Amino acid sequence: MVSPHHRLTPCAMLAAMSHVSNDRPQIVLDCDPGHDDVIAIVLAAHTTNLLGITTVAGNAPLDRTTYNACVMRDAMQLDTTVHSGAERPLVAEPKFAGYVHGASGLDGAELPAPSHGADSTDAVSFIIDTCRQNEGVWLVPTGPLTNIALALRTAPDLVDRIAGISLMGGGTFGNRTPLAEFNVWADPHAAAMVFDCGAPITMAGLDVTHQFLVTPPRIEQVEAINTPFSSMITDLFRFFARNYLSRHEHMVGAALHDPLAVMALTHPHLFIGVDRHVTIEMEGRHTTGMTVIDRRDMIGQEAPNAHVLERVDHEAAWAIVLDALAAASNRAAHA
Ligand code: BDR
Ligand code: CA
Repeated sequence: MVSPHHRLTPCAMLAAMSHVSNDRPQIVLDCDPGHDDVIAIVLAAHTTNLLGITTVAGNAPLDRTTYNACVMRDAMQLDTTVHSGAERPLVAEPKFAGYVHGASGLDGAELPAPSHGADSTDAVSFIIDTCRQNEGVWLVPTGPLTNIALALRTAPDLVDRIAGISLMGGGTFGNRTPLAEFNVWADPHAAAMVFDCGAPITMAGLDVTHQFLVTPPRIEQVEAINTPFSSMITDLFRFFARNYLSRHEHMVGAALHDPLAVMALTHPHLFIGVDRHVTIEMEGRHTTGMTVIDRRDMIGQEAPNAHVLERVDHEAAWAIVLDALAAASNRAAHA
C-alpha cells in the first residue's frame, strides 16, 4: 500500500497560500531538533492536529533533542506533550550531526531554558497508545526512525490502524555519505523495519528537500516579522544557512528538509511524487544507509512500498512556512 497523495501537480502561489483544509491530519511528530525539525514543529502546530511530540537521538544526543523540543513548546506556547524516546539506534553506534546543527542541535540562538521537561520518557508507549486511541493517525518522523520501528515492533497492529507514515529521509543521493541521507544512515535497521512494515509511506528525501532552501533573502523575510520569536528563528536560520554555505560548493541556502514531511500531508498538491519500492541498505561497504529506490519498469518487480516525492513547488512551500512563522510569532507575542 502507498500513500493516497499520488501524482500531484505543482500549483500557483495562490493555491499554496490558501489555508490548509478543514480536515487537518492528526499527527505525532517524531523529531530530533535540529534547526529544520523546529520548523516542522512550527508548521505542524499551524496546519495539523498535533497529538504529541516525541523525540529521538539524532542531530544531537537525546537529552538535548528533548530539551530543544521543550524549548520550542514554550516559545510557541504549545499545548502539546513531549515524550523522549530512543537514546541510541537499534544496532548501529550512535552518531550525531553537530557538523550541521552545532553540538546543542540548535546552535545559533540564545534559547531560554524550558519551563519543564518531557512529560514522559516513553515515546514508544505514547506512540502506540495515541495510535490505538485515535483513528487514522499519521506518524511524521523527521529524525532517525528508531522510535517508530520500536513502536511497530511492539505493536504490529499499528500498521492497520494508522493512516500512514510521512517521513523525511533517504533520496537518490546522500548527505552523510555519497549515497546515504543522515536519518536513514543513523539507524538503517530501524529504517528497514519501517519501509518493510506495510503501512502507507510518503518519503520526503533529499531529492525534494534540496529544492527547498532557506536563503539569505528568505531569512530577511523572517527577520521582518520582527518579534522575539521571529528573531530567535532568524538567528537559528543564519547559523543553519552559514553552515550549509560553508560546506557546499553550489548551494545558496540551507535545505529545509523536515517541514516537507508535514507539508506532504497538509499541502499534497505542491508535490510531485512516484510510487516506488524502496529497500534500505544495511551493510554495504560504501552504501550503508542508502535508500535503494527501484526505478525500473519491469514486470514482476517488487510492488511499491512508498510514495517517493520528487518535486516541490518551493515558492509556495516557503509562503506557507512564512505564514506559519508569522502565526507562531503572533501567538507567542500575545501569550
Ligand atoms: C535530516 O538530517 C538532519 O540533520 C535534519 O534535521 C534532517 O532531518 C537531513 O538529512
Ligand atoms: Ca531532523
